Amino acid sequence: MKIKVKLIFALLCVAFVIYSLSIYLVPIRKHLNSAPNATLASKGRLVWQDYNCESCHQLYGLGGYMGPDLTNIYSCKGKGPIYIKALVKSGTGLMPPFHLTEEEETNLLHFLRSTDESGSADPRNFTINALGMIEKK
Ligand code: HEC
Repeated sequence: MKIKVKLIFALLCVAFVIYSLSIYLVPIRKHLNSAPNATLASKGRLVWQDYNCESCHQLYGLGGYMGPDLTNIYSCKGKGPIYIKALVKSGTGLMPPFHLTEEEETNLLHFLRSTDESGSADPRNFTINALGMIEKK
């Protein structure tokens, strides 16, 4: 009798662990599976242009200088897609809020992700040459 109870308890524990893992791994699996989509990324570039993000932000050091360089914002530790979404929606003291549709938002994130994956642009390593292009120090 005692062994049966222990066995049932052990089975329930195993079921609990498997169930928990299956739930917590869903967002990770989703993220891993969704490679940046080239079509959506090029639509996202149009969103970036339509809303004039480049008037204040740079990609690879090119663009306006009111806001920070966003080349690697997507993979930046402590920032990333959720942070980007929230900031674009709410704005900051210096940046106006933007009311993107859900589709525009998704496309913009694909664009920023594919830009991020195309290389790294840490402004601390930049020097800007006479033509306005960036070079590594
Ligand atoms: C009028 C200028 C302006 C425009 C246009 C603008 N931004 Fe910004 N943005 C800023 C400034 C300035 C900051 C820095 C915020 C602060 O420190 O208050 C910022 C910050 C950000 C950040 C956070 C960067 C970080 O490193 O924390 C993101 C992401 C961002 N902007 C995305 C966008 C996107 C996407 C667009 C286009 C839809 C956009 N911005 C358009 C001025 C602008």
